[in-house]
Amino acid sequence: MAKKTLEDCPPETLANEVVVVRVDYNLPLDKDGVVVDDTRLVRTLPTIQYLVEAGAKAVLLSHLGRPGGRPDQALTLRPVAEKLEKFLGFPVGFCPATTGPLANAAVQGMKSGEVLLLENTRFCPEDVGNDSEWAEQISFGTKLFVNDAFGTAHRAHASTQGIAHAVRRSGGEAVAGFLLERELRFLCDAMADPEHPFVAVIGGAKISSKIDVIEALLPAVDRLLIGGAMANTFFKARGWAVGDSLVEEDRIDTARMLMDLAGDKLLLPVDVITARSITSDAATRVSACDEVGEDRHIGDIGPHTAKLFAEVVGAARTVIWSGPMGVFELAPFQSGTFEVARAAASTADRGATVIVGGGDSAAATVAAGVVDRITHVSTGGSASLELLSGKEMPAVAALSDR
Ligand code: 3PG
Repeated sequence: MAKKTLEDCPPETLANEVVVVRVDYNLPLDKDGVVVDDTRLVRTLPTIQYLVEAGAKAVLLSHLGRPGGRPDQALTLRPVAEKLEKFLGFPVGFCPATTGPLANAAVQGMKSGEVLLLENTRFCPEDVGNDSEWAEQISFGTKLFVNDAFGTAHRAHASTQGIAHAVRRSGGEAVAGFLLERELRFLCDAMADPEHPFVAVIGGAKISSKIDVIEALLPAVDRLLIGGAMANTFFKARGWAVGDSLVEEDRIDTARMLMDLAGDKLLLPVDVITARSITSDAATRVSACDEVGEDRHIGDIGPHTAKLFAEVVGAARTVIWSGPMGVFELAPFQSGTFEVARAAASTADRGATVIVGGGDSAAATVAAGVVDRITHVSTGGSASLELLSGKEMPAVAALSDR
């Protein structure tokens, strides 16, 4: 990797030093504010443990949600500190401020090997505003800033990019933590030097959110499989009626353009599962893609498509998967996504590299019971799409060069 990582920082140089670490503890919460998935937190443990074992004082910064630059107790990081404490097995300090006298005193009072989580960076407007003075304040005079927040690396914020510049300006280093290093390695290597056959599976609701990644993947892949509601827009571009299914009317030309560009590489569903409504008790039927009834909604790829997609994925040596094949959260529409998930896991078992983009597809591998068999499940949703699209990540660009 062209950027420095925590491996470039020998433990003996860290003892008693304040090290500021940007993590992405923007964990999904349910309606009662309870964390429903702690993967992002668990993946930062190696970085924190490395620092603690080296005797550093680890000051953690994160955002949670989008509080709009104002304190919002529904988005406090206090419960996350409690969760982190359980995983680490020793006390983790929490400071209800991000900067100012309270935060300064909390950092100054730290002892060797301690961990302190500061309050949500986005309670302060300066974070998203990438305020350079504030970035200096949250660096607490450290000589080492560690970025382990892949999910936020596409944001040029004070706690991601500004702080790296501030620390380097004052003669310190800004390096990637172990989580960030792993994400960059898997996602960049897959694009730079994939083993063939290289297959991309793209799903989800909208072409508009995936167009950049599809365009970037097309020259590199051998097959591009498209499922999920975004396939409906392709059906419409082929002149087929899709009943009451979701379609991006303003993207029909984009779908046509992608079909021309992709040629034989593109594999669209041949059949779909439909229902009158997308509900957990819906009565479903299988239709050919050009025979979806007027009052029907498409909820999943059909069984022939699932088998076809599973075969293509099963024969691949590199797979990138982003976006589910249907509404897998509801039992009547989960089989397509689950069959692709199982095929991806089996091909990974045989030594292929299988990379799953964050968000919904990561959740689908958990729901299908195969998450532990996937080579790499990214902690970044939009971040992984931007990286795969070949865009520069401001927070990574700001790190010290090797
Ligand atoms: C995410 O969950 O995608 C990251 O934490 C970034 O969050 P954001 O889109 O609010 O910047």
